[in-house]
Amino acid sequence: MRKHSPRTILAQAGHFVDSVTGAVTPPIHPSTTYARDDDYEPIGDYVYSRTQNPTYDQVEHLAAELDGGAEARLFSSGMAAISAVFETVGIGQHIAAPTIMYHSAQDWLRRIAEKRNIGLTLFNAADPDALRQAIKPGETVILWVETPANPTWDVIDIAEAAAAAHDAGAVLGVDCTVSTPITTRALDLGADIVFHSATKYLNGHSDLTAGILVTREADPRWEEIKFIRKHVGGVLGAFESWLLLRGMRTLAIRFERASSNALKIAQYFESHPKIDAVLYPGLESHPGHEIAKRQMTNGFGGMLSLCVKGGAMAAKAIATRLKLFVSATSLGGVESLVEHRATVEGPLSQVQPNLLRLSVGIEDVDDLIADLKQAFDTI
Ligand SMILES: Cc1ncc(COP(=O)(O)O)c(C=O)c1O
Repeated sequence: MRKHSPRTILAQAGHFVDSVTGAVTPPIHPSTTYARDDDYEPIGDYVYSRTQNPTYDQVEHLAAELDGGAEARLFSSGMAAISAVFETVGIGQHIAAPTIMYHSAQDWLRRIAEKRNIGLTLFNAADPDALRQAIKPGETVILWVETPANPTWDVIDIAEAAAAAHDAGAVLGVDCTVSTPITTRALDLGADIVFHSATKYLNGHSDLTAGILVTREADPRWEEIKFIRKHVGGVLGAFESWLLLRGMRTLAIRFERASSNALKIAQYFESHPKIDAVLYPGLESHPGHEIAKRQMTNGFGGMLSLCVKGGAMAAKAIATRLKLFVSATSLGGVESLVEHRATVEGPLSQVQPNLLRLSVGIEDVDDLIADLKQAFDTI
């Protein structure tokens, strides 16, 4: 039989039907501890929920199936998952990562690099030669990339990055938060570990924080990541895990609608007189469009940036005058958000001051365009 499409896999999350009650949605397992039998053996597969819990299992199986990985692990936030990956790097080893990437992940990298004598090279993600030059054969253990990269939406060629990492004996980790497995399966393109901040599209309702790692192989680095989760304890509560599973059921339809809304907004503003540039990988004018077409096979996502004429003042004025777009950080929810990224990232931010980041939701796109139009009319 043909393998089911992600839309079907997600809608039926886990293909769950309770054999006792016939319930079609999985139960929540809040128990932190699990009883032993008369021989003092665990009755089931579980002992203590910092290690594993049936509700995490549901989400992890779904995530592994979606990304085509061997195993997945759920964490209490995206950063808990990312830091578990970097925690596997030893003193004297080296990490390569892009200059433009999720800023907290980069702050964490800089901190561990300084404190633990780990080498760190940041490279310009828009330049494939820079990526290869950043890797030190024999020293680099992780090449970390994010695609499309927040908030310029630079697109990194995952297959090329994987080849560069593997040539040097390193593994490739890809932050696919913005692309999601609905449009990009990074492991199929050669990545070793794929990461999602499940706080964003996977959950989609801006009501929990979670992170997911999916591995291609259960290799020693993966065993160490599982060891770190178990001992550091960055696990998600059972209720949040269950909510995430519920959110994931509608991931495909939400992501597809957000992508089509974002493309229409990007096309509408591409030639707007008050705009310097629209940054969206779905536009032919975007420098990463050709790669994006190859590796984003079902939509270019709901994230785009508008570079506004008139600098930071004009950009912030628009953010405050929007009525439907909520001025708030984060992304990937059903509701549209706007953010003046340089302000949120603070003084070290590399983001241009006139950039407004939009997380386009699933509302009616004509309402969203009308909202943007009225705000632009005021400047
Ligand atoms: C691209 C990307 N990666 C990682 C993270 C970190 O995820 P979390 O906020 O769930 O810890 C974020 C959060 O904004 C993000 O946007």
